[in-house]
Amino acid sequence: MKGNSDAIIQAHVATYLGTLEAPRDALLAKMEAHAERENQPISDPEVATLLRILVHATQPTHLVEVGTNIGYGAIVLARAAGEKAHVDTVELRPNIVAIARGYVEEAGLSSRVTVHEADALSFLKARCAKPVQFAYIDCVKEDYAAYLDLLAPAMTKGGLIVADNVLWRGMVGQADVPEKERVRATALAAFNAKLTKHADFTATVLPFGDGVAVATKH
Ligand SMILES: C[S@@+](CC[C@H](N)C(=O)[O-])C[C@H]1O[C@@H](n2cnc3c(N)ncnc32)[C@H](O)[C@@H]1O
Repeated sequence: MKGNSDAIIQAHVATYLGTLEAPRDALLAKMEAHAERENQPISDPEVATLLRILVHATQPTHLVEVGTNIGYGAIVLARAAGEKAHVDTVELRPNIVAIARGYVEEAGLSSRVTVHEADALSFLKARCAKPVQFAYIDCVKEDYAAYLDLLAPAMTKGGLIVADNVLWRGMVGQADVPEKERVRATALAAFNAKLTKHADFTATVLPFGDGVAVATKH
């Protein structure tokens, strides 16, 4: 969500970067308008572009997205990964699942994207036996470290984990976090530390968007 990214970088830089965003087709533009209208937290366009680049570069065949919302990220991932790849994505809210499935169908991707209606932790516990080449974490911030624990053994060598919102409007690492955001900011700080110090991953946090962590398994 745009307001988040503008809190991390200087306003004029955010405005400038906005002029560089890749054009979107009619479907993604429609989904962005839907998200704006109904206040749905889809990925920012620059994060979507980063996902496309990383997927193109690594050519994963099994991708997992934790947190579907209306399906914007899943469609971006599936399009970038191509016909041989499959995206498993998980969303808790049934009404949002229905919307996501509708957009996935409209994108012609129903055979390449499965929108699972489930709690993300239960889903990951059940699915993670299957090797994963690319994981996009974009769900409950307090659970990011648990998602990592569940995903890490399933990731293939060279596999990528991308996690969004890891600087949470600049509050992660801030000394005086407002009380209502403290648990979330603390959880994200713990996730960032866990990922960047993980014995099986090389990871960094990009001060980009709302903060994006990128890690590769070695
Ligand atoms: C930030 S949005 C995902 C955006 C999406 N990844 C994209 O790229 O557009 C996070 C989603 O996670 C869902 N969610 C919240 N708690 C969940 C849970 N316990 N399990 C699964 N999904 C959950 C929310 O309903 C919300 O739609």
